Amino acid sequence: MTDVTKTTEQDYGENPIGVRETDTYKGEYVHSFVDKWDELIDWDARAESEGSFFIKLLKERGCKRVLDVATGTGFHSVRLIKEGFEVVSADGAPEMLAKAFNNGRKHGEILRTVQADWRWLNRDVHNKFDAVICLGNSFTHLFSERDRRKALAEFYACLRHDGILILDQRNYDMILDEGFKTKHTYYYCGENVRAEPEHVDEGLARFCYSFPDGSKFHLNMYPLRANYVKRLMTEVGFQNIETFADFQETYRQDDPDFYIHVAEKRYPNAK
Ligand SMILES: C[S@@+](CC[C@H](N)C(=O)[O-])C[C@H]1O[C@@H](n2cnc3c(N)ncnc32)[C@H](O)[C@@H]1O
Repeated sequence: MTDVTKTTEQDYGENPIGVRETDTYKGEYVHSFVDKWDELIDWDARAESEGSFFIKLLKERGCKRVLDVATGTGFHSVRLIKEGFEVVSADGAPEMLAKAFNNGRKHGEILRTVQADWRWLNRDVHNKFDAVICLGNSFTHLFSERDRRKALAEFYACLRHDGILILDQRNYDMILDEGFKTKHTYYYCGENVRAEPEHVDEGLARFCYSFPDGSKFHLNMYPLRANYVKRLMTEVGFQNIETFADFQETYRQDDPDFYIHVAEKRYPNAK
């Protein structure tokens, strides 16, 4: 896919399910998709469904400085600023950052934005943070293990010695092993947007997003298995990984739609 940040059409070429590259994300979030998304996913409803899960978690861990590496249209950045956190908002897609900045202004906040791809995040982000957040099922955009390891290593390097990474993902294990079913409560609030897989294999989950006006957009994503993500995190150096289900304190919930991994940089026995 080409970089079509100002265009309104997605273009997956002749064989959409053959598009399995990390750089694809740059052309997927086209203007019209981003606009429609924000129009329909009501921030208040999203805030309500999520509750204070992330805010509580960050406060409990004493975090003040947060790097939002997948800012998107700015939902979490704005929420955290309003809660008193110091936030830097990064994203690889300039279209997303522009939208996030405008959304911030609408909510009376000025976002500190940095355009940066996760694979070389530390080239553009030089400060250290108490927390790195990668939310909204964003890590799924990386298509090779090398890119995933590189991104996690870059997240690790942005953290202070006792910082944490919060990374969420769709429950792809369920989709791969049992087929798709959803409770439609989290992230895609209400029935305005239907998000359903059009094609799933071990290397691709192609989702179709249908809007009430009949328009459709797609995202090609890598179906991450939860234990695989935890293994990669451990291998790049993260410790004490805790996994939550659908913003609940317990992991063992039946078939959650989303998992949230919280990983520490701090070594438990460090002197
Ligand atoms: C699904 S959106 C989520 C946005 C937001 N966190 C939310 O929950 O609404 C994924 C975001 O990750 C960004 N992204 C995907 N791959 C990236 C990469 N390799 N480097 C930087 N940003 C990336 C996209 O540009 C997009 O804004």
